[in-house]
Amino acid sequence: MKTVFINCSPKKKFCASSYFLFLQRLFVSGKKVSEKLRTPADHDRILGELREAQAVVFGVPLYVDGIPSHVLRFMEKMEVFCRENNLRLSVYCIANNGFIEGRQNESLMRNFENFCVRAGLSWGGGVGIGGGVMLNVTRILFLVNIGLLALNTLISAINTGSFFPKDAWISFAENAGLLLFFNLGVLYYLIRIGAHIRKGTFSDRKYTRILIPSFVFIIFADIFFIIISFFEGGLFRGWLAKKAPEESKNA
Ligand SMILES: Cc1cc2nc3c(=O)[nH]c(=O)nc-3n(C[C@H](O)[C@H](O)[C@H](O)COP(=O)(O)O)c2cc1C
Repeated sequence: MKTVFINCSPKKKFCASSYFLFLQRLFVSGKKVSEKLRTPADHDRILGELREAQAVVFGVPLYVDGIPSHVLRFMEKMEVFCRENNLRLSVYCIANNGFIEGRQNESLMRNFENFCVRAGLSWGGGVGIGGGVMLNVTRILFLVNIGLLALNTLISAINTGSFFPKDAWISFAENAGLLLFFNLGVLYYLIRIGAHIRKGTFSDRKYTRILIPSFVFIIFADIFFIIISFFEGGLFRGWLAKKAPEESKNA
């Protein structure tokens, strides 16, 4: 049983899709191949991998309530390729979006379902995940947490000779537990769909989100995007930044 995981985020690194596909891979057995779809140069390589596969899992970011255009170009090619080679793959989709409601991925899921009908493939279902950006940040926070624990252990070992600073471990366990809690909905549905991917069976569309109340999400999302905006050229991603004459004509 060979499963191909296709990361469809155009970002070069640190994308939410890679996080969710990493988790999904943990719950799928057999031969696993990871691919990255960013440009047309990736098409033939990925199609080659699909020849011997039984299942393909798309990790897709939601763009303007739909499938990103570079993924659509690939799907057009894949449709022809699967028909010509009489492939009978099961197709699954792990979609994520920035806003908190995972159900916003509904139209994207339906597009994948229709694609399967046209390409003669079996639609296996998918998971739509809301708050994808924030969930992706939880993995950094987890790594920071591990770093802090290591630092505290080192300081404690130097100062007292103890390699088990109790307070640092309690604080680590509390923070890790909280981060795990935020991810519980995602983990639950990825485990469930993982069982379907292994058996090649149909799972339907499921939706989940980061497990925090919406009003807390909005506050943190606003703070996060204001900070990111400054790094990306000023408030509101550079809209208010002074533009060169050529740029302002095109804006
Ligand atoms: C061009 C563009 C359009 C987007 N449209 C939506 C949208 O319609 N709804 C939404 O909730 N998030 C939207 N987002 C946010 C992405 O879905 C979100 O950042 C996602 O986590 C990106 O996944 P990735 O890191 O795997 O690329 C959009 C992002 C971009 C860049």
